[in-house]
Amino acid sequence: MSEEQKQSDNRARPTTDEFREFVASGWAPRAVATPERAEVAAYAAQRREALAAAFPGERLVIPAGGLKVRSNDTDYVFRPHSAFAHLTGLGADREPDAVLVLEPLEEGGHEAQLFFRPLADRDTDEFFGDARYGEFWVGARPTLADMEAELGLRARHIDDFEPAVGKDAGVVTIRVIREADTQVAGIVEAARSAASVAQEQAAEQDDALSHAASTLRLVKDEWEIDQMREAVAATHTGFEAVIAGMGEALERGRGERWIEGVFGLHARHQGNGVGYDSICAAGDHANTLHWIKNTGEVHEGDLVLIDAGVEVDSLFTADITRTLPVSGRFTDAQREIYDAVYAAQEAGIAAVRPGARFSDIHAAAIRVIAEHLHRWGLLPEGIDVEGTLDTEHGQYHRRWMVHGTSHHLGIDVHDCALATRAEYMDGELAPGMVLTVEPGLYFKADDLLAPERFRGIGVRIEDDVVVTEDGCEVLSADMPRTSADVEAWIARIAQA
Ligand code: GLY
Ligand code: MN
Ligand code: MN
Repeated sequence: MSEEQKQSDNRARPTTDEFREFVASGWAPRAVATPERAEVAAYAAQRREALAAAFPGERLVIPAGGLKVRSNDTDYVFRPHSAFAHLTGLGADREPDAVLVLEPLEEGGHEAQLFFRPLADRDTDEFFGDARYGEFWVGARPTLADMEAELGLRARHIDDFEPAVGKDAGVVTIRVIREADTQVAGIVEAARSAASVAQEQAAEQDDALSHAASTLRLVKDEWEIDQMREAVAATHTGFEAVIAGMGEALERGRGERWIEGVFGLHARHQGNGVGYDSICAAGDHANTLHWIKNTGEVHEGDLVLIDAGVEVDSLFTADITRTLPVSGRFTDAQREIYDAVYAAQEAGIAAVRPGARFSDIHAAAIRVIAEHLHRWGLLPEGIDVEGTLDTEHGQYHRRWMVHGTSHHLGIDVHDCALATRAEYMDGELAPGMVLTVEPGLYFKADDLLAPERFRGIGVRIEDDVVVTEDGCEVLSADMPRTSADVEAWIARIAQA
């Protein structure tokens, strides 16, 4: 639940009983139309069923999380915990302080109950006086009936949560996703302590629930894959706007900021916003892997590496990188590096198929990177491709590509973060998994081991793929990728 804000009354105004009465009166009746059942509701129900089946007879508590203070009395924009979003289908902005409880039934199975703060009546102080939750300040929320209609689960008032969650503690095992909301976790812990449940065992049980909710997202259902398609299409639009605005980024100065802003505009327009802080890295900044400061200039002749993704309203995000020549054409050195990264990416994509291991993608891509580094004479003397790929002794190539080639992608940009190594890196790829393939090569301006012509050039190419029955589909296949196609893309947009 929400963090406490320090309150001061230095801007408060007196509220009289006369005002209370006045402000509660004279409003048109509330709309009575019931919301339609959300398309995601049936999918979310299946996800809840799959999770609950792993914990028969137990009470499972999945909080949305609360508002977080940004500074003083302003909060960050609310984003629900990913497990809550996945298991309810509620996306952007919904619902601070809510808690999903999967309540075990005597006859077996679970009932989904969503505890939340419903729309307050107009005769409450909250209606006009609560700047954090009140309708006057942040808009109307759904009623309990609205939520039941929209999601097809039982809705309950948040005030009923504490007594409900602690009922029969000690008899019923209660697990909570603790990291989603420390206050909710505290309520659950208090109930368990009162019932003398051993803390250490309870903590392990909680971790197992968090882990199960995270790995439930390893394979996406068809609705999730559709969301990914939407996220990728919106990201494509954002990249095209960036290309169209490249001239302005040059002319105005502070060009990385301009690129970030143009992409952000389209991310917000098409979706909820960016799925992670965009990396808009011109020239040598591309060699700083998480360059999110975006404070630099863009110059003619630079490459600009843009790693950005639109998060759609359901919170699924794309994660795409294109490295673009600002002037429209790659120099010979830029193209040499770009084509090497492209070849590595092709090898990585070719390795994506059911039954392969997740780590096979990196192995395929990094071999191509190592081959190029060897051909360019950059590996230490006496070290060949096999030598550098040797995980025990070599790995010299990592100087120029230190990151992994792939990660799971979904509601979180680095999705399924609680999967074990056996489930993730060593796990088998299966249809419905969504991954990135994103090799790169990074030659810092001050890297004296790099040929002079390569110094200050960084390239990454990142695409999003879904594993199919017999291989994979590149979700971002419509976004040009080869050096020649990227040049043609830029020329086409410049002419439009
Ligand atoms: N944008 C972060 C990543 O590519 O993993
Ligand atoms: Mn990525
Ligand atoms: Mn990325």
